[in-house]
Amino acid sequence: MSLETPRDAEELFRDFAPLGSPAVYTRDRCAEMAGTTRRIRELKAERRAVILAHNYQRPEIFEVADFIGDSLELARQATKVEADVIVFCGVHFMAETAKILNPDRTVLLPDLRAGCSLADSVDADSLEDRRDELRKIYPDLMIASYVNTTAEVKAVSDVCVTSSNAVKVVEKLPSENILFVPDQNLARYVQENTKKNIIAWDGNCYVHHQITPEQIERVRKHLPHVKVLAHPECRHDVLKLADAVLSTSGMVQYARESDAQEFLVVTECGLSDRLLLELPEKTFYKSCKLCAYMKMITLEDTRRALEEMRYPIELHEEVRTGAERALKRMLELS
Ligand code: 13P
Ligand code: SF4
Repeated sequence: MSLETPRDAEELFRDFAPLGSPAVYTRDRCAEMAGTTRRIRELKAERRAVILAHNYQRPEIFEVADFIGDSLELARQATKVEADVIVFCGVHFMAETAKILNPDRTVLLPDLRAGCSLADSVDADSLEDRRDELRKIYPDLMIASYVNTTAEVKAVSDVCVTSSNAVKVVEKLPSENILFVPDQNLARYVQENTKKNIIAWDGNCYVHHQITPEQIERVRKHLPHVKVLAHPECRHDVLKLADAVLSTSGMVQYARESDAQEFLVVTECGLSDRLLLELPEKTFYKSCKLCAYMKMITLEDTRRALEEMRYPIELHEEVRTGAERALKRMLELS
């Protein structure tokens, strides 16, 4: 069914919008960005730098990025970098992951305010207290922490996971009882896909947690054939309505390989820009949910990061080696 009246469209696009709307990229703005892009390319060569960018970044960041991906792909890519400098266009925990895996390289985050509400929902001390409490009941308890955590939290974890490998990694752990931090929605999704006992932390991502099943159903009513792709950070009642539950790069791959033409992309808005750039022949409806942290990274700040070598990620060696152990275990198991 197609949209018949402006009223239908208004109702539908209250929560989800078609790609390509509204144009903030004026001719003048594009000319300005072209100059900044040229300067970033010169600086990358001068500094022997690479830019790694997460799928939620702004499209102009994709233009200067050497690699774009989801958390797992970015972590893997960080182990292969040969450049002297890594500019990380993403959020703080992602830049930290790159530094954990590359202690001898300079890792820059263009804006230090780019944090993550999920990573903020657990700290290392509370996690250790909870682990000690639970081990009295479950002596074999292990901690699996989502990569959306600080280096300190990773350092007290047995293993890290991402949205694309969480079930696989948990299945391979030599323990039946897993304390899964910090995302309650991803924890529940893992619990539904394993027989192990998953004990969830109570964190969530403010972007994904606000999406409701009613919003999905409203779109489905108008577009019954649309394929719904949802990120596992979404609520359980939202995931139940999805045709596929995938990481951000998993969604790109699914859309590329599927025979379907129309997709509802239930995750942060920015992924839709990548989909539009890579699969212009398909139609995507996007969630109008922005991650304010991801959007703090701008093209101008990326240029300044390279010009002024700011802001370098620094870690205590003890924390770094502890976090590296958990990350490397993930990379081996997935
Ligand atoms: P992905 O690893 O699926 O890209 O997810 C990262 C993230 O922060 C989602 O909110
Ligand atoms: Fe964190 Fe959510 Fe933003 Fe991802 S979308 S970086 S989980 S706040």
